[in-house]
Amino acid sequence: MEQPRVLRWFDVQSVPGDYSFPLEDRPGRLPIPLCDAVPVIDLHKSTTSPEKWSMVRQIVEASQEYGFFQVINHGVSEDVVRETSTVFKEFFNMYAEDKKGTSASDGDLSRGWIYMNSSSVFAKDGIHLWRDNVKLACHPLEECMQGWPPKPTRYREVVATYVEEMRRLSGRILELICDGLGLEAGYLERLSQVQLVVGNYYPPCPDPSLTLGLLKHCDPSLITILLQEGNACGLQVLHNGKWIGVAPLPNALVVNIGNQLEIISNGKLKSAEHRAVTNSYEARISIATFINPSHNSIVEPAKVLVDELNPPRYAPTLYKDFAHTSKVASTEATKPPAPPDS
Ligand code: OGA
Ligand code: NI
Repeated sequence: MEQPRVLRWFDVQSVPGDYSFPLEDRPGRLPIPLCDAVPVIDLHKSTTSPEKWSMVRQIVEASQEYGFFQVINHGVSEDVVRETSTVFKEFFNMYAEDKKGTSASDGDLSRGWIYMNSSSVFAKDGIHLWRDNVKLACHPLEECMQGWPPKPTRYREVVATYVEEMRRLSGRILELICDGLGLEAGYLERLSQVQLVVGNYYPPCPDPSLTLGLLKHCDPSLITILLQEGNACGLQVLHNGKWIGVAPLPNALVVNIGNQLEIISNGKLKSAEHRAVTNSYEARISIATFINPSHNSIVEPAKVLVDELNPPRYAPTLYKDFAHTSKVASTEATKPPAPPDS
């Protein structure tokens, strides 16, 4: 039987036909001007109540307008971020044999890890993404990390620290969002039962106008925290029908509202469509942390946000069904479920 062709990124001179998207998906003219519209929010430990409420307001406003914001002074040490970027870079640079995941099947990544090179998945109609990726189950951490890649040597230890930091930071941001929405303390934290980390590797591409690192999608998470490694721009968010770039900023992390939080907030917060484009000059790595409900949770608008004037805009959905109907991959969905009467 013919073996699937595996693209060796370093000797690609032109974009193969099965990596070239149809016109309607292509990023088109690049670069898209970078824009500083996506708010940057300073999360320094607030000591006073007005400072805290100012953060809450900024987070809610950014989540309503863009579904995205960046955070600085978020409390995750620069060393942890740097080391995490380094071990992911080392991982992606290893020989293919060393990157083969062993202990998980896609779609149900409850333990272990899975590595996918671009040629093993079609993103759409027989076209591949310009991306390799590795997915790690992270919860419960002690158990999961035993099943992570054994190489590079420090990978497990470094990524475990990062996972803990992301857990803490996501908890803090979700508490601020609870305050902003008027939900009781712990409401969102209780739903955050699953954590997944996905490392994305986008190699340089000879013609970025034809390819995509990630198709347009929404995240089916509660929230996602993205570390953009390096200086290359790749992440774009759809805002009022226009793509805007989210520039990597020093020591910043990108946060976006996922479909589940849009549902819980009864549409007050927005899960925005976004995508990743490629560039011709350097490999780009991003590390996404998804905070998700457990597969058996039923997700629905919070009762306190629903009344006669504000009827529920989303049907209760079993998270498992939501995640499985997602077309792109288990970590990427296309749109939130329809309201009950449409
Ligand atoms: C994702 C995602 C964007 C990026 O992993 O869901 O949107 O820039 N990543 O890698
Ligand atoms: Ni995404």
